[in-house]
Amino acid sequence: MDLKNYLQQEEFIVKCECGISLMDAKLQMINAELGMRCKRKVIHSFSGRIKSYDSIAAKLRLKGLDETVESMEQNLNDLVGVRAVCTYTDDLYQIAEMLCAQKDLRLIKEKDYIKAPKKSGYRSMHLIFWAPVSFREGTQWIKVEVQLRTGAMDYWAGLDYQLQYKKENREAKNIGIELKQYANAIEQIDSKVLELRKRIEAI
Ligand code: GTP
Ligand code: MG
Repeated sequence: MDLKNYLQQEEFIVKCECGISLMDAKLQMINAELGMRCKRKVIHSFSGRIKSYDSIAAKLRLKGLDETVESMEQNLNDLVGVRAVCTYTDDLYQIAEMLCAQKDLRLIKEKDYIKAPKKSGYRSMHLIFWAPVSFREGTQWIKVEVQLRTGAMDYWAGLDYQLQYKKENREAKNIGIELKQYANAIEQIDSKVLELRKRIEAI
C-alpha cells in the first residue's frame, strides 16, 4: 500500500491515538505523584500528535529515503509524539527516570539534547519507547517519542520551528542568528531559576 493511503487508514490512526492516550495517562500519573511529593505543579502542559503525511514525506526526502511504509517504520521515530512541558530541568530528568522504570515500556533510544544541544541550539529530552497498545486480537507495540522540555525550551523550539519555513528570507536568517544566541541565554536562565528554587526550598 502506498504511504499516503496507509496513513489515512482508520485502523492506523486509531492505533496511534491509543499510543498517545497511553503515554498521556502515564505522564498524568507521574504528574500526580510528583505534584504530591514536591507540593507544586510539575507538568504544565501535555500534547500529543500524529505526524502528518506532508511532514513524514518531507523528512524522508530530506534524509534521502524512500517514501514507503517500510522506510517510514524503519527510519522515523516521531510518527507518534507526546510532549510534556515543565518549569524546571530537574523535573524533566525525574519524569524520564519514572517513565523508563515502567515495566510495560521498552526504551528504544534516549536523546538528551539538554546535556548536548543540537547545532541549531535546540534543547529537549527525547525518549523513544515501544508502547503496548491493546488492539483487536492482542497487544501491538507502537513506537512513541516523548519530548520533555522546560517552558523556555518550548517557546524557543516554537520560534525555531516557525523559522524553518522561512529559511530563504534574509530577515529570517538574521532572526535565526539572534535566536541561536538566545538558546544560550535561556539555558542560563533555566539553570539559575532551578538554583533559586532549590535555595528557597532549603530555607
Ligand atoms: P536526526 O536525524 O538525528 O535529526 O533525527 P530526527 O530529526 O528524526 O529526530 P530528532 O530527535 O532530531 O527530532 C525529532 C523531533 O524533535 C522533531 O520532529 C522536532 O519536533 C524536534 N526537533 C529536533 N530538532 C529540532 C530543531 O532543531 N528545532 C526544533 N524546533 N525542533 C527540533
Ligand atoms: Mg532532526
